[in-house]
Amino acid sequence: MENTAELNRQREYIEKLKGTVVRLTDELGRIPKCAVITFGCQMNARDSEKLSGILREAGFALDGDEKDADLIIYNTCSVRDNANQRVYGHLGSLKPVKKKNPGLKIALCGCMMQEPSVIENISKNYKFIDLVFGTHNIFKFAELLYRMYEEDSGQIIDIWESTNDYVEDLPVDRKYSYKSGVNIMYGCNNFCTYCIVPYVRGRERSRDAKEIIREIERLSDDGVIEVMLLGQNVNSYGKGLDDDIDFSDLLREVEKIDKIKRIRFMTSHPKDLSDKLIDTIADSIKICRHIHLPLQSGSDRILKAMNRHYTKESYLDLVGRIKNAVPDIAVTTDIIIGFPGERAEDVDDTIDVINRVEYDNAFTFIYSKRTGTPAAAMEDQVSEEFAKEQFDRVLDAVRRCAGKRNGMLVGRTEEALVESLSDNDPSMVTGRLSNNSMVHFKGDKELIGTIVPVKLHTAGGFYYIGDMVRN
Ligand code: 5AD
Ligand code: SF4
Repeated sequence: MENTAELNRQREYIEKLKGTVVRLTDELGRIPKCAVITFGCQMNARDSEKLSGILREAGFALDGDEKDADLIIYNTCSVRDNANQRVYGHLGSLKPVKKKNPGLKIALCGCMMQEPSVIENISKNYKFIDLVFGTHNIFKFAELLYRMYEEDSGQIIDIWESTNDYVEDLPVDRKYSYKSGVNIMYGCNNFCTYCIVPYVRGRERSRDAKEIIREIERLSDDGVIEVMLLGQNVNSYGKGLDDDIDFSDLLREVEKIDKIKRIRFMTSHPKDLSDKLIDTIADSIKICRHIHLPLQSGSDRILKAMNRHYTKESYLDLVGRIKNAVPDIAVTTDIIIGFPGERAEDVDDTIDVINRVEYDNAFTFIYSKRTGTPAAAMEDQVSEEFAKEQFDRVLDAVRRCAGKRNGMLVGRTEEALVESLSDNDPSMVTGRLSNNSMVHFKGDKELIGTIVPVKLHTAGGFYYIGDMVRN
């Protein structure tokens, strides 16, 4: 539910924070610097833009890094245990820094903070952390930050178990001027048995389509030409809304916004991807030719234990229908190796799917046991050694297929959205094709944020080299 009273409250806190920044500037002899460090997925990246928006509006300088910042914020991820360990690693090295400089403030937020065991650990063993909040009350950031600076109340921990509220229209500091993520839904109801997301991000709730369209219209007025619609399972968009609208309908509405030239979305669950959506992609000139379709496993037995609600055959059939309707589409995926009970025969099935789909790219993860998920309690957890061995086999297959797919567009002229100057050669720019491949070509920084035609000459690893086609 959108909450305008809360919006006004938070705006008042931003105003109050401006006073705090003036005070800190006097004390330090310079504007206080902050560093927002983001772990994890696109959702977190978008959340960090919201945190940065509030910080910038309040007057903080956003160019600090961990070494010289006066305020450090870690926006954490908990999808795999190594993400948690990385955060603890950072905190460990900050303890002596904070001792030397008590004026340094440290805040933690994001998915990891929704894990009760983490909060217990932080309140007991990391007393030098100043502020901790979670995924459900991120819209209260201005208020919490103000309290941290102005009330001498020690460590503040504010974690909510759930919420139906969201607050629109708080300031956002976009990383890119020409493209932006847009949340279309929050949370997840799928409860894949390995996954912690439903526990830390809460139940699935779709945003009102009118709000989404209004946000995208405003972004487009502000120079954005590409949007990435974000949700854990965008294919179930619309469930529970008063309006009778599904994801395809939403895409068609976004498409009507003139200044938006490209539309991407992430992530699609194979069980909910409809033929209507395939037709919508095929008919569209704005929806990009890339779909991320997490497989997780190619074994029916493991898919069932993962609670994924599709089979190897139905997945292959779905990819077949997508590739038939949209021949140039790049398909990418996520794969988990070492799920409880997995055997080499199951991984054979996964590799078979990789070979038959010919993914353009795949993200491969060794299964990580997440406390509180059903899979963590399953017997038959596999050994690290087995998982690593199987991981290498899967990676080999992925590399072979990606190698085959890469270079498919050589000889063609394709539109590229120019994203930056090339890292190695300032006379070149780097652009992104509709299928998400990168292309490097001669050009200057004036091109950044524009879409230009590029003739693709050669291909390297995951990129092309080309020349801009001038009219
Ligand atoms: N272990 C390993 N990988 C996981 N993912 C989600 N949970 C786990 C876990 N417990 C992977 C899935 C998902 C991606 C975002 O992270 O492949 O699609
Ligand atoms: Fe996790 Fe499954 Fe939801 Fe994706 S769909 S966020 S893997 S529970």
